[in-house]
Amino acid sequence: MARGKKIYEGKAKILYEGPEPGTIIQYFKDDATAYNAEKRDVIDGKGALNNRLSEFFMVGLNTVGVPTHFLKRLNMREQLVRACEIIPLEVIVRNFAAGSMASRLGIEEGTALPRPVVEYCLKDDKLGDPLVTEEHIAAFGWASQQDMDDILSLALRVNDFMSGLMYGVGIKLVDFKIEVGRVYEGDFQRLIVADEISPDSCRLWDIETGRKLDKDVFRRDLGNLADAYTEVARRLGVMPVNATRMEKPKLIN
Ligand code: TMP
Repeated sequence: MARGKKIYEGKAKILYEGPEPGTIIQYFKDDATAYNAEKRDVIDGKGALNNRLSEFFMVGLNTVGVPTHFLKRLNMREQLVRACEIIPLEVIVRNFAAGSMASRLGIEEGTALPRPVVEYCLKDDKLGDPLVTEEHIAAFGWASQQDMDDILSLALRVNDFMSGLMYGVGIKLVDFKIEVGRVYEGDFQRLIVADEISPDSCRLWDIETGRKLDKDVFRRDLGNLADAYTEVARRLGVMPVNATRMEKPKLIN
């Protein structure tokens, strides 16, 4: 499928104009970044794994009635998605304390939270995606009260779906981040899950051993990131062949 003009290049993905108005091609790069891109590397196979995993989660969400931007996967690294207006918030849902919440509130990592906790960060790399409250969101007009009700409902539905799916393959969904976009349909508008859902944007711990199977492997130098993502894909039956071991072309003499 012919790609149009490049629209945007982020840390892990590139967006191109899609073949029809209202569509976008999302290209998954192998680049890994952490700590606001202070730490960076290229991990062979990561883009392909995230493309397949995000497809798997988004198709599952669409099937259970949670609307997403996903239309179809095009190839190993690209997927066709609906264009939408991204709400400038990172929506985080936490089931267990970890990462910034654990350090901010002095709670031991892995502590079960009494109920899922939803947090919002402003999408602004220059500011390091600061945590914001609903008061900030309303005061600065980043989203309306109706949007916030819809975002909360979407986030909790994604949490229920993803927690159950992961539990079924022996993985604990510790926390995750989603982005939400607005689409217009005639006189109506609605919010849908956008961007990606992958081990880049979730914390996934093996239930038995506690082994981390997400981007913390890269952030905290805990081993091979592609191996961890491959394990998630293998358990979900998404990628039975080990795609991270694809060799680069070799010159034959
Ligand atoms: P945190 O503990 O660093 O706040 O992250 C919570 C979860 O949200 C974790 O699964 C990583 C994810 N996340 C992103 O994917 N991108 C982001 O920009 C942020 C702030 C969090």
